[in-house]
Amino acid sequence: MKNKILVTGGAGYIGTHTCIALHQAGYDIVIYDNLSNSSREAINRVSQLIDVSIDFIEGDIRDAKRLREVFEAHQFFGVIHFAGLKAVGESVAKPLMYYNNNVSGTINLLEVMAEYKVKKFVFSSSATVYGDPEVLPIDENSPRSCTNPYGQSKLTVEHILENLAVSDNDWNLITLRYFNPVGAHPSGQIGEDPNDIPNNLMPYISQVAVGKLAKLNIFGNDYPTVDGTGVRDFIHVTDLAAGHVAALNYLEDQTSAVGFLPINLGTGKGSSVLELVTAFTKVSGQKIPYQFTDRRAGDIASCYASADKAQSLLGWQAKLSIADMCEDTWRWQSMNPNGYKA
Ligand code: NAD
Ligand code: UFG
Repeated sequence: MKNKILVTGGAGYIGTHTCIALHQAGYDIVIYDNLSNSSREAINRVSQLIDVSIDFIEGDIRDAKRLREVFEAHQFFGVIHFAGLKAVGESVAKPLMYYNNNVSGTINLLEVMAEYKVKKFVFSSSATVYGDPEVLPIDENSPRSCTNPYGQSKLTVEHILENLAVSDNDWNLITLRYFNPVGAHPSGQIGEDPNDIPNNLMPYISQVAVGKLAKLNIFGNDYPTVDGTGVRDFIHVTDLAAGHVAALNYLEDQTSAVGFLPINLGTGKGSSVLELVTAFTKVSGQKIPYQFTDRRAGDIASCYASADKAQSLLGWQAKLSIADMCEDTWRWQSMNPNGYKA
């Protein structure tokens, strides 16, 4: 029998790509999502791509009753937990909403998992837990600190998972710290669909390229980097999705529980904002007008991963290049100028 996985937040950007990869790797999936930042259309498109009707439950991770119904109805091997709010600026304006959703929601989910003795958990953490790193590349033992409520909510969940692993040896709590996920499915059918004006660089660039936004503001050109602009470890979302499959495969192979296990998912290479703009211009053939503005509050100069642990433990390594990331983003954006909206 195939192992069944509950995917919270599976209708979202990273969740949809991961559901495809899970299906292709032979897992059965059940998506649980409240659609607060996603749409049924995204799920329809995943169904079309894998040619299987998706088991989707509309529900909130803070709703224990609904979650219990789901755990009664299905026997899960484990849970991949994407559900959460992710906008740094919004988290500063609405900290209670972020802690409630990301921290209380996760505690609720873990409590229901414990009731049903499902103790394999893959958590979406973020490189943001490393704050402003002292040493590059960043490995998993680097000090952690956060300044905004979004990052703090991720760090708090990490601490909760560490405590949980100490309290009970049966838990398997893989914490994947994503660097900067970008790109889209190569079909052009699914991708990132921000509700509003994008906060993140890649969707902003692609909306300038497609003519929805006039000009990119580059936040700072006086950082101590190759060209003065910020440097990040951009990782293709399908590579990231493969990282989740590798994490589950790893758990399938273990004969004893792994406890709390943090793993970076990045390429190990940093690229600057200007390098990304240049690459996007080349693959899309579109002009990307830009201007330099002040630094954005809270931004750091450089952030890129040591990806050694993912390779040695999970046998996983990112394969796709910056050109692939730009090409797939551009295909998604030009085929769907309004995202999932008709
Ligand atoms: P996303 O917003 O596209 O997906 C998150 C999904 O969770 C959405 O479909 C949303 O409707 C759902 N959701 C939110 N709150 C929920 C709740 N209370 N109950 C049920 N469903 C809920 O975001 P994404 O980019 O796919 O990110 C997935 C996860 O990875 C998030 O936890 C995010 O914090 C984390 N992460 C993302 C990035 C990034 O840059 N995209 C980087 C690091 C970490
Ligand atoms: N940038 C611009 N103009 C923009 C948007 C971004 O110049 O319009 C620059 C930023 O200053 C930064 C780089 O592009 O130097 C990347 O910015 P993003 O907003 O795309 O990504 P961040 O690294 O700031 O943050 C992202 C997620 C966070 C997450 C963090 C670490 O948004 O949620 O990666 O994983 F915590």
